Amino acid sequence: MVVLAAHFHPVMRSSRLRRGPVQALVGGTAYALWRDGMGTPRALLDRCPHRHAPLSRGRVRPDGRLACGYHGWHFDGNGDGQSPTVPELTGCTATAAQLVDHLGWLWLAGAGVPLDRLPKIEADGWRFVDSYSCRTEAPLHVVVDNFAENEHTPWVHTRLGWLEKDASQVQIDVRCHPDRTEVRQLSPQRPAAALSIFGVRQGDKLRNEWVTRFSPVHNVHTISWHDPDTGEARPFSVRIGFCFVPETDRRTKIVAFFFTRMEGRTPLPRRILGRLAYFLAWKELWDDARWVNHVADTQLGFEGMRLTRFDKPVAHNRKLMDELYYDSRLVPEASLVTRPRARPVSEHGKPETDAASFSAQPPKASRSG
Ligand code: FES
Ligand SMILES: [Fe+2]
Repeated sequence: MVVLAAHFHPVMRSSRLRRGPVQALVGGTAYALWRDGMGTPRALLDRCPHRHAPLSRGRVRPDGRLACGYHGWHFDGNGDGQSPTVPELTGCTATAAQLVDHLGWLWLAGAGVPLDRLPKIEADGWRFVDSYSCRTEAPLHVVVDNFAENEHTPWVHTRLGWLEKDASQVQIDVRCHPDRTEVRQLSPQRPAAALSIFGVRQGDKLRNEWVTRFSPVHNVHTISWHDPDTGEARPFSVRIGFCFVPETDRRTKIVAFFFTRMEGRTPLPRRILGRLAYFLAWKELWDDARWVNHVADTQLGFEGMRLTRFDKPVAHNRKLMDELYYDSRLVPEASLVTRPRARPVSEHGKPETDAASFSAQPPKASRSG
């Protein structure tokens, strides 16, 4: 599995980390998370420098240091360690990672990764409601494919989006940039009684615009409705940022950050409407997650597939994911590279280039824009 310490990944709700330690997985690499004596979240590679016991099986001492459960070596948040039985021993250093609290989640990255690589999911004018997450038993590319296209809408979803009979009315515009994929889609909104409380009316048009970026792999959807004749916008719109965290090469966690915007008078208090919308969006995510598990064995290449115009963003995402996300040259020198790298199989079915382990090169500037 590749090592993905060059990007910030949301690994755990901040409120779920008490003292710890607990284990988090990113790219097949395990980290031990805990809170130090000041309550600051900390992360170390989950491998004691003594004999490689998992530090997540240890305990947090009263002074806030993380102690290995096997022979008691203990570490601060920078990884500086000490052996209690051989206190004069030097070089007892565990590998530290960054753990940043943002939007209610703990985001993990290798030491030295600049904070401006945190993805820009929030935006002015949008009210953050809450986040939700689910785990899929599918590789990263399968999950990202699902969130790149909308052709599955009539069959996978039950409220949001268009019906099969309206397929000819779906307009889609895909822009392939060197650092992102942009999609604008306009379609009829299917009849959905649940949406009427948000001011969506029968026959409305649905506009869904999403941008996918790759540090980490995430996309942000902006969803709104309007009158098809007058173009008048409905007062309620939604913004959802989906982050895709490959915990292993067969398991991907989806973390969604949910925002709303309401203009003018609303039939219910905005806080209540926001919560209701959050619940409906969670149901839609659940439909997606259920389906990606069914297609988990989908190959990484496209040979033998008959792609449609809806799949254009899928293809561009795959290309950028390889260039921008799996690129080992993005990994800062001081970060957590410990395993040989096995790159994805190319479109031609052969492993691309070598399986070289990390070479310490300076980080490139972020290409996530
Ligand atoms: S393996 Fe951790 S102290 Fe020995
Ligand atoms: Fe979907």
